[in-house]
Amino acid sequence: MGEGISDYTRFVVDLRRHMWMAGVETELRRLIWQIAVTGKYISAKIHESNRKLAGFKNLYGEDQLSLDRNADDILKNQLEYSGFVREYASEEQDAVIQIGKGQEKYFVTADPLDGSSLVDTNLSIGTIIGIHKEPIFSCGKDSMVAALYITYGPLITMVYSAGKGTHEFVLNREGEYVLSQECIMLEERGSLYSPGGLRKDFTERHLKYLEYLEAQGYKLRYSGGFVPDINQVLIKRGGIFTYPALKKSPRGKLRLLFELQPMAFIIEQAGGIATDGTDPILSLRVEGLDQRCPIYIGSRFEVEKAMEFLAQNS
Ligand code: AHG
Ligand code: MN
Ligand code: MN
Repeated sequence: MGEGISDYTRFVVDLRRHMWMAGVETELRRLIWQIAVTGKYISAKIHESNRKLAGFKNLYGEDQLSLDRNADDILKNQLEYSGFVREYASEEQDAVIQIGKGQEKYFVTADPLDGSSLVDTNLSIGTIIGIHKEPIFSCGKDSMVAALYITYGPLITMVYSAGKGTHEFVLNREGEYVLSQECIMLEERGSLYSPGGLRKDFTERHLKYLEYLEAQGYKLRYSGGFVPDINQVLIKRGGIFTYPALKKSPRGKLRLLFELQPMAFIIEQAGGIATDGTDPILSLRVEGLDQRCPIYIGSRFEVEKAMEFLAQNS
């Protein structure tokens, strides 16, 4: 490195530099950068809220917007000004919102604040984003070009994939996202399991699968926040997260468009797999904003094992 370049500059790879070096296309790079920056504003709102949730009154007795709505507003405004986004679909909105002029390249989905009910407990929460090159009512594998999530925990981290591996960044004190792990790859088989849903609502086959994992010595790791729970599987290099079909709700709980597609994209890019128990999450067609879907996501071994159990005749 040349003279005048500080140690800091020499060793730090920030998000923009990383995407440039990885050959991510210019507009997509800028869009991902803008969304990552938005994470800083959302985090500031979480701090400002002093951990209070929806429907509380401010000093003057006025109703406050919930944190979810605040996060949604911040994201929508940022994306509107970016100039790269034609449509915005969010868990906080009833319909897809046209935010561009019609020529823009990208369609963005958001779960602006996932796990917001955990704010009062000070567990990690997150933002989940999907970036599509086609209108969102299609299959993830045809339309998705990138996905990212941000965790608001002891540290703020950002994990993205633009189809060239999955990478983690940490927001440093200077307000920059600094590369911490590049091309994260899951092991073929992990050692933790993260099972959503209540045992009394599980199907027989799903229950048998969980009993198999337990007998094999898998460690239970479930926080109730999708972002930190998936992040744990990724950062610990394997294991499984599942939110299955339940007796009362055969479509499970989590949303295909806002939650499952982006995480499936990120985990597949890290060498893992994501299915609804039968088919890959990214092969499923999105037909409605509120569409739910069971999920088995993580290391290849555990997900394929789940599919075996679910296919068995008991
Ligand atoms: P959201 O806060 O966006 O509504 O999502 C909550 C989700 C997700 O974070 C988590 O995986 C799941 O709900 C937890 O569900 P249970 O409370 O049934 O465990
Ligand atoms: Mn959510
Ligand atoms: Mn949410």
